[in-house]
Amino acid sequence: MLHALWLLLAFLHGAACTKTTYLEFNVTWVNRNPDGLHERPVMGINGQWPIPALHVTKGERVVIAVSNHLGNETTSLHWHGLYMNGTSYMDGPPGIAQCEIPPGESFVYDFKIDQPGTYWFHSHTRGQYPDGLRAPLIVNDPENPSKEEVDGEIVLSFSDWYHDLMRPLLASFVSVTNPTGAEPVPKSALINDSQNVTVAIQPGKTYLIRMVNMAAFASMYVWFQGHSMRVVEVDGIYTEPTEASMLYLTAGQRYSVLITVDPSGGTNIPFVASMDEELFDDIPDDLNSNVTGWLVLDNAKELPTPSNVDTFEALDDMSLRPLDGSAALDKVDRTITLDMKMDNLGDGANYAFFNNNTYVEPTVPTLYTVMSSGQYSDNPIVYGSHTNSFVLHGNETVEIILNNNDDGKHPFHLHGHAFQVIARSEEDAGSYSEGNTLSTPAVPLKRDTVLVQPNGYAVLRFRSDNPGVWLFHCHLEWHVASGLIATFIEAPLELQKTATIPPDHYDLCARNKPPVPTLGNAAGNVDDLLDLNGEPAPPQPLPAGFTTKGIIALVISILNGLIMVGMIAWYGMLQSPATEPGAGDEDGGPEGENQPLLAGPGPGT
Ligand code: C2O
Repeated sequence: MLHALWLLLAFLHGAACTKTTYLEFNVTWVNRNPDGLHERPVMGINGQWPIPALHVTKGERVVIAVSNHLGNETTSLHWHGLYMNGTSYMDGPPGIAQCEIPPGESFVYDFKIDQPGTYWFHSHTRGQYPDGLRAPLIVNDPENPSKEEVDGEIVLSFSDWYHDLMRPLLASFVSVTNPTGAEPVPKSALINDSQNVTVAIQPGKTYLIRMVNMAAFASMYVWFQGHSMRVVEVDGIYTEPTEASMLYLTAGQRYSVLITVDPSGGTNIPFVASMDEELFDDIPDDLNSNVTGWLVLDNAKELPTPSNVDTFEALDDMSLRPLDGSAALDKVDRTITLDMKMDNLGDGANYAFFNNNTYVEPTVPTLYTVMSSGQYSDNPIVYGSHTNSFVLHGNETVEIILNNNDDGKHPFHLHGHAFQVIARSEEDAGSYSEGNTLSTPAVPLKRDTVLVQPNGYAVLRFRSDNPGVWLFHCHLEWHVASGLIATFIEAPLELQKTATIPPDHYDLCARNKPPVPTLGNAAGNVDDLLDLNGEPAPPQPLPAGFTTKGIIALVISILNGLIMVGMIAWYGMLQSPATEPGAGDEDGGPEGENQPLLAGPGPGT
């Protein structure tokens, strides 16, 4: 049936001369043990995990039929870093650009890729990609500026790894039992979603090494022992070649670098990815922060243990200049200030806020509100009170001032665009004001995911030249779950005229359980587009006089009580002849009701 659909699509597009690649992605659970410490279900594609990198060529059209065979979870795919020019409806995020793909259903992604570089694709369904549904996406460029120099290409992904499934982790993260919003700490670091990766290389050759951080949470320091890197691309933007001995990649960021191997050979070359532990609220004893791989000159020789590194001194990405020399956008037409913070709501859980609003997915996916709200699509009200929606006019210079009023580092990602980083403060610089700006670089860094320092700010600019609905969010998957999302609705009236959303996108919404409405405002109201009655909303704010500290104290006393009860029960169990193995989860995580393939691992006695 899918094949018939493809034939039809191929026929309809037969006249176009672009190369088209047709792929079928069957998403299923498979069991894997990538760090050798714990087997668990992971989300694979066509029975494969790690999911192989997808390689395409600039100018190519890809048609990917995604079938959800997970059985117990909805899914979706997002193409991180691709501008999706003219195809905003193929961008992936449910609630924004499409509906969820329910179990047993399919969705065809069909788009043209007109930009070269290093990207990745991942599930954009709430909290899902750290369960494994993620892989690099490489867009080969026949005109790559470093092609003369390059003898071979290597793709490396870095990721963090949890032993528990995301569903139970998310449930315990956004919870009254976690009032400080402490994020679960991963167990291990992975390279290519595995460990002990070896890559064959030859002396005297130059390699283009493409690197992607696909982690849920951890930023990575990355270095190649005894070798300097020449950065030539950042998030799909070619850069003036820049030397670096160490790179720092937040979740979502990419770099490609050139490395030339000594012509006289020598020992095999270890390379290391090391998680930035400053992101973690606590450092468990069993944390494996480092992962090593090797560039192998000679299989017969040993794989050396990497030497210790005393200080992490990574390249400051602000020093990177786009190769095309694009000057800083001046004459800002529209400034959007986003003050972000973390705080508790009335349910006692910790949430993330932009301008005192935590994101809640609307009833109608935002793009479908654009398409069904006529002249009202220009009015931000129709997109709801809890979606942090901003309507942008076409062809303006938009400036985002992001003030991070939180003591954590946050990597912010914009869909549909790369942005210029006009300014980025150091830690503790406070909020941005004209007075405390650093001087604007003439040719600023351009990328699609940027690190913002604790209690600091960043100023970003881009041209609104890509009609669509685009998310702007923290790429720490925990903070996506706690609402650190804004929505940019770019040139909606233009979008209404130019976007032709395939009917099967709307059909998919009808096949969700319960069906998802596709007409009207954020509340699904069709008659009065300014009436948001019934829109999805976050929990109420904390009652006056009830402080976050109060909740923390309350939770601690409840936990103390539970520990007492637990000790009494445990003492009782010691007395009873048969205790049930497997009753406890060895790493203390909650058991989800949704663990399809995993028989609860018993604690090794
Ligand atoms: Cu890679 Cu919305 O994210």
